[in-house]
Amino acid sequence: MLKAIAHFVRNGPEVLRMQKQHSRAEFLDLFNEKADAQGYADVRRELVGDLAGSILEIGCGTGSMFRYYGERARVDAIEPEEDFLERAVAKAQRTSGKIHAMAGDGMNLPFSNGSFDTVVICLVLCSVASTSRVLAEAFRVLRGGGQLRALEHVRSGGAVAGLLMDLGNPLWLRINKQGCNWNRDPLAALSEAGFWVDDVRAFQRFDTMMPAFPMRLVKAHKPR
Ligand SMILES: C[S@@+](CC[C@H](N)C(=O)[O-])C[C@H]1O[C@@H](n2cnc3c(N)ncnc32)[C@H](O)[C@@H]1O
Repeated sequence: MLKAIAHFVRNGPEVLRMQKQHSRAEFLDLFNEKADAQGYADVRRELVGDLAGSILEIGCGTGSMFRYYGERARVDAIEPEEDFLERAVAKAQRTSGKIHAMAGDGMNLPFSNGSFDTVVICLVLCSVASTSRVLAEAFRVLRGGGQLRALEHVRSGGAVAGLLMDLGNPLWLRINKQGCNWNRDPLAALSEAGFWVDDVRAFQRFDTMMPAFPMRLVKAHKPR
C-alpha cells in the first residue's frame, strides 16, 4: 500500500498539471497516450487484440482503445459524453469502416438482444451510475456464448487499504473530475448479471503515470 501511495505522490503533480492545461477531452486523450507509451499499451492489447467479429465497446471515451483492435474486429463504440465522442468519431473515421463511434448510454443500450459476439468495457464501471444495470445491458445485447472483456480497477482487498479507499473516495472524486470511484468491485456484479467468469488476471502496475490501482482483466462469457 505504501508503494502505491508513493507512486501516486510521485505522478500526481504532473497529472494535475496536465489536467489544468487541457480541456477534459484533451486531458483524457493525452493521459491515455502517455500511459500507453509507458507500458499500458500491452494491457489494452491483451484485452482486445485477439478479438474478431461484431464487438460493442461501452464507454469508449476518446477512442483510446481503437488502435488495439485486430483486423478481423468490427466495432460499434458508444460514448455518452459529447466532447469525448467527438474525438472518438474522428479516430473511428480513420479505421476504414472497421470502427463506428456513436452516442449511447451503457445503462440503456440502443441495440437488440443478442446482437454482438463480444462486449468490451474498459475503465468504465468505476464511473457509471449503476454497475449492475450496465452489466445487465451488456448481457442482453450479447449472443449466447458471446464474450465479455473487461478491464477495471477495484477496491483493495486489504482491510486497511480498502477502508482508506472508502474514506478517501469523496476526495478522489473531486480530484479526478471524471466521476471515477476507486472503491468499487464490479466482479461480484458480473456473476450476478449471469456471466460465467473464465479468467481473472489480477495485477498492479507501477511503471506508468496511471495510479497503481489493484486491477482486474476479466474474460467472461454469456452461457448458451
Ligand atoms: C476513464 S474513461 C475510459 C474511457 C475508455 N474506455 C478508455 O479506456 O480510455 C470512463 C468512460 O466511461 C464513460 N461512461 C460513464 N458513464 C457511462 C455510461 N452510463 N455509459 C457509457 N459510458 C459511460 C465516460 O463517459 C468515459 O468515457
